[in-house]
Amino acid sequence: MTRWLIWGGVALAAALVLWLAPPVYVWLASEAVIGQRYTLPRSLVQADSTREGLVRGARLVRLAGCTGCHGPNLAGKRLRDPFPLYASNLRALATVYADEDFDRAIRRGLRPDASSLWVMPSEAYVYVRDADIAAILGYLRALPPQGRITPPPAFTRAERWAIVRGDLQPVADLALTQMPAIGLGPHYDGGRYIAMLACGVCHGTDLAGSQEAPDLNVIARYTRHAFFDLLRKGWGAHGRRLKAMGPLAKQRFHILQDWEIDPLYAYLTARAKAPTLDQISGAIR
Ligand code: HEC
Ligand code: HEC
Repeated sequence: MTRWLIWGGVALAAALVLWLAPPVYVWLASEAVIGQRYTLPRSLVQADSTREGLVRGARLVRLAGCTGCHGPNLAGKRLRDPFPLYASNLRALATVYADEDFDRAIRRGLRPDASSLWVMPSEAYVYVRDADIAAILGYLRALPPQGRITPPPAFTRAERWAIVRGDLQPVADLALTQMPAIGLGPHYDGGRYIAMLACGVCHGTDLAGSQEAPDLNVIARYTRHAFFDLLRKGWGAHGRRLKAMGPLAKQRFHILQDWEIDPLYAYLTARAKAPTLDQISGAIR
């Protein structure tokens, strides 16, 4: 009788361990990633509060998509995708964050406590110039503070699983490994910069496409005239209806000037004709 009791107890304990082990493992493994601390790099960027700085900053927060996530007045917004979290209230943070805290968050994906941000697309902003970060900060600091500081993300089991699988990665890691769009020489640098700044968040910083948006070598379908219609009016080439690009033209891209759209078109067209990195390394082998 006692033997049965002992074996029963052992079996029960084993079942309990088997039942608990996976969730405990997922929690511990994800917690190790979430709790990771990074080296905080120095930043010497200072908010540019000149008139030109403010005007440029106001354009940049629109073109780079900051207002798309953080709300039209940058006072924060609850996002649903890829999981529910706040795109922070930047106007409330302006009362507590120094310029370098903002810069490290935007270009490196780091919080002042050296932990990583989540979902914020810093990997698309790694290559933004100092002067443009300064202009964005100048604009942000010119807005009166508003509302309360939004909380950091809370991770449910689904997100923790995604972290353990590697499907959800800390932004600070992504920002460290992100490749820029291929350089095609000084003649094309202006257009390349606009492409990374305004298109990289969705089409990938290297412009090679993402889950939702295609590789920008689709430019081959567009004449210069059709490309202007795409960015100004949201019209797809050959009368295609574009679910994302249609509204984006009205919200953002119609503010691009001719002298921005022309170099952007020139760069994207040259890039579509240039051999890819894979082709180049294939030819060397
Ligand atoms: C795809 C949506 C998205 C876009 C586009 C975006 N952000 Fe964010 N951003 C977020 C989210 C979400 C967070 C909060 C991340 C967290 O708490 O881990 C965040 C956090 C931040 C932070 C850190 C705030 C904090 O709580 O420490 C700053 C600063 C910031 N964003 C500035 C910007 C600027 C400037 C731009 C445009 C150049 C921009 N963001 C574009 C989604 C976005
Ligand atoms: C907020 C995300 C987002 C941004 C930013 C963005 N795109 Fe797109 N783009 C998409 C998506 C999604 C598609 C797929 C078609 C659709 O739904 O509009 C697309 C499709 C396209 C296409 C192919 C259209 C076709 O004929 O099939 C082109 C060209 C394009 N984008 C150019 C650009 C350029 C140039 C920029 C920057 C100035 C840009 N996009 C910025 C999301 C984006």
